[in-house]
Amino acid sequence: MKLLENYSINDLKLKNRIVMAPMCMYQVYNKDGVATSFHKSHYVARAIGQVGLIIVEATGVMNNGRITDHCLGLYNDKQIEPLKEIVDAVHCQGSKIAIQLNHAGRKSETTNLRHIGPSAIKFNKNEFNYDEMTKQDINEVIESFKDAAQRANHAGFDALEIHGAHGYLIHQFISPLSNHRSDEYGQDRFLFLKQLISEIKTVWPNEKPILLRISATDYIENGLSVDDWVNFLNENKNLVDCIHVSSGGLVSTKINVYPGYQLPLSKEIKNKTDYITIGVGLINDHELLQASLELDHCDLVASGRELLRNPNLLLDIAKKANRDDLIPFAYKRAYK
Ligand SMILES: Cc1cc2nc3c(=O)[nH]c(=O)nc-3n(C[C@H](O)[C@H](O)[C@H](O)COP(=O)(O)O)c2cc1C
Repeated sequence: MKLLENYSINDLKLKNRIVMAPMCMYQVYNKDGVATSFHKSHYVARAIGQVGLIIVEATGVMNNGRITDHCLGLYNDKQIEPLKEIVDAVHCQGSKIAIQLNHAGRKSETTNLRHIGPSAIKFNKNEFNYDEMTKQDINEVIESFKDAAQRANHAGFDALEIHGAHGYLIHQFISPLSNHRSDEYGQDRFLFLKQLISEIKTVWPNEKPILLRISATDYIENGLSVDDWVNFLNENKNLVDCIHVSSGGLVSTKINVYPGYQLPLSKEIKNKTDYITIGVGLINDHELLQASLELDHCDLVASGRELLRNPNLLLDIAKKANRDDLIPFAYKRAYK
């Protein structure tokens, strides 16, 4: 069963193909971006549950790049050590761990900070005003991604995920709906992403994979489409090591959501480019998790809410497949 088999993204060896999707937990109680005991229990529980790759929630590369005051950050050095403790504890269980780096741009709801976006266009009815980014703002954000990547490496993360999805800053630059700039960042809407990744690569070790999470479509006329991504990825073949295929989030619009609804997008990117993909989105039951891989819709499959409900999802799958060898010793009596 592919689901329980090893898989490698370049040099990163995963013990199975189940990924924990990044999910903001809003548990930074004192608003300083530092991981708390909640984060440690939360991520290590999924490592005990034998998840192959855990992706830590959207983590702000700048204070005003966090989604809320209660989100994680990696914009100063005191944020490194508590994350390192999580990384080390996850490694003790044999799982691998990545961190999702993000700048929320016009979707940041952090308080008492200046908010920015590629153009001064509000997200829905957000109460905040957003400044159109100057060249200096752009350079600062790119530099912050680089610095955060360096901190993530010091914390020992096995991989980085760049958050290019769900209407946050990178997606805001890429979509024609939110980028109305007339300079080079408007003429080439992918320029910001390309510059940002090339800066990150100056500090991030070559052997550690970089994942890119994308919204493959805005689900709206004149918005971003999967063809835009296919063309871009074919023109930029070794930009990153893996594409994590999500969708939407830039504007509110009606989306037809059903089990596995984003898998066709993953399949298209996987088939039409050289990239390996992670599929995600309402892939809750064992059969669909398995089918997504066996039908080659993706190379790895991510679970979000189901892993919140059941950190031992993978142990249940292993039990059903008579793979008792995959149940950790401490829990064996519960799976007899
Ligand atoms: C509570 C919650 C928080 C989320 N936070 C993030 C996040 O930090 N970064 C991200 O890319 N997606 C985030 N998502 C989206 C999930 O990663 C995932 O794509 C989505 O939940 C669909 O997968 P699922 O149906 O398996 O839950 C979040 C989803 C939930 C439910």
